[in-house]
Amino acid sequence: METGGPVPPQWQDIMSDVLVGSTHISARNAELAATLASDYAGLNPVLIVVLKGAFMFATDLSRALSIPHELEFIRASSYSGTGSTGTVVIHGLEHAKLAGRHVLVVEDIVDTGLTLSHIYARLKDAGAKSVKCIALLEKDTALRLKEVPSVDYIAFRIPDKFVVGYGLDFDQRWRHIPFVGVYKK
Ligand code: XMP
Ligand code: MG
Repeated sequence: METGGPVPPQWQDIMSDVLVGSTHISARNAELAATLASDYAGLNPVLIVVLKGAFMFATDLSRALSIPHELEFIRASSYSGTGSTGTVVIHGLEHAKLAGRHVLVVEDIVDTGLTLSHIYARLKDAGAKSVKCIALLEKDTALRLKEVPSVDYIAFRIPDKFVVGYGLDFDQRWRHIPFVGVYKK
C-alpha cells in the first residue's frame, strides 16, 4: 500500500485518498525506532501512549525499538471550549511512577497542540526528568496554539484534512484500517 496510490475498493466509501500508505508507515517506524534507540540508549524511557488513537503506532514503534523501555497508557478527553480555553482531562497517570524518569509521549496526531500542552503540564508535575513527544502525524494548521511544546519526533506532516485509519477514528470507527487516508465526509 503506497502513499498516493488508489484507495482499496473496500474503503472507497470511507476515504478519498491514501495519505500515508502502510509501506511508508513501516519504513518510517523503523527509522524513528533507530533514532530513539540512539537518543535514549541507557535511559530506560517510559513511553506514555495516548489512547485510543496512538494504539497502533505505539504497538509497531515499541516492537521496532531495540532498547529496554516501559509503557504506560493514558486517556486524554477534550471538552470543547474556544481555542485555548478548551479543557483536557487526563486519566491513567494516577499510578504511574514517573519521578526522575525520561518520558516520551506517543501521540497519534498533533493538531492545535492543546492536548499535548495539558499532558506535558501533568508529566512535569509528576516529576519527570525529561519530557518529549513522538507523533505519528502533525497537522499543518493555522489553529496551532502559541506556547505549545514542539513535537520532537514526527513521522509525517500532513495537510489540514480530517484523516482516519492506523488508530485514528471518525466517531470511533475506522481505527483498524492499516494506513492513513482522508476521510470522505
Ligand atoms: P489537539 O488540537 O489537542 O488535537 O492537538 C489532538 C486530538 O484531536 C483529534 N484529531 C483528529 N482525530 N482525525 C482524527 O481521527 C483527525 O484528522 C484529527 N485531528 C485532530 C485527535 O484525537 C487528537 O489526539
Ligand atoms: Mg478521535
